[in-house]
Amino acid sequence: MAGDAGSADTIDVLIYGPRKPVVDEGFPAGFALHRCEQQADLETLSDDVRARIRGVAVTGLVPTSAAVLSRFPELEIVSSFGVGYDHIDAAWAAQHGVMVTNTPDVLTEEVADTALGLLIATLREFIRADKYVRAGLWATQPYPLSAGSLRDRKVGIVGMGRIGQAIARRLDASLVPVVYHSRKPAAGVAYQHYPDLIAMAKEVDTLVVITPGGAATNKLISAEVLAALGPRGVLINVARGSVVDEAALIAALKSGTILAAGLDVFADEPNVPEELRTLGNVVLLPHIGSASVVTRNAMDQLVVDNLKAWFTGKPPLTPIAETPVKER
Ligand code: 8YV
Repeated sequence: MAGDAGSADTIDVLIYGPRKPVVDEGFPAGFALHRCEQQADLETLSDDVRARIRGVAVTGLVPTSAAVLSRFPELEIVSSFGVGYDHIDAAWAAQHGVMVTNTPDVLTEEVADTALGLLIATLREFIRADKYVRAGLWATQPYPLSAGSLRDRKVGIVGMGRIGQAIARRLDASLVPVVYHSRKPAAGVAYQHYPDLIAMAKEVDTLVVITPGGAATNKLISAEVLAALGPRGVLINVARGSVVDEAALIAALKSGTILAAGLDVFADEPNVPEELRTLGNVVLLPHIGSASVVTRNAMDQLVVDNLKAWFTGKPPLTPIAETPVKER
């Protein structure tokens, strides 16, 4: 933990999570910044500082439970990094009049790029082919012809929010038919909507998962869904590891219940089960859906800008649905 001393005249903000230069350097004079990279560091905050904290910037997917938030009696706002906020107890915040913001929009196209790239890499075996060249095998014989294709696929997108729609646009451009599953039809979206995920899984051969994490979607992609997807099935997950029953997925990949998977997210990050790491029919990424320098900087900047707006009496830029803007 490190921080400016703060005083009765400063706006005291806790920066909670990984160090980010854009956040560290983003606040004007008048703010006193206190830093805790991990939960254990919270214990090092003095009672005096704790009592003055009015804003928290959560700079990564750091679990921010009611127990963490309730340490700060003067807390007004939690500005969280990432569009997903299942790591924040939003219900507690709403009950206690604490504003929560996230970083939507600035990462939409980046994550959609990742989804399509991961789908193509999985189908066309780009990672395996790269290893083939590096191993010097190309000079001995041509790369074996076994790759799948986008050309004969129909994709079911699970979750048709902003990123789901950006993925669908990319698939349109690639001439791939798209349908989707979400609890309610998405406004203004013309693709066929399936209220029943199993019914959709039976109709498609590729699932791209981009729905929020949390209790409502826990293990939504179950053994039953994977069985419905079938032996040509490819699963791409750029949402949260919690959305997929990982044990069922490993079993389905091993037994040939589905063909392959491309995963950017896992149930217990950064721990990826050994069984997944040794399978040949998966492409594994270390949760880099939004991880380009330009997009991560824009997300970090939005974390700062939400706090700056709030503490200059303006509405926050990107409040989450659970804590809508009210008259102050
Ligand atoms: C980040 C994400 O990769 O925005 C999200 O919800 O999952 C990603 O953009 C994540 O916040 C990792 O720190």
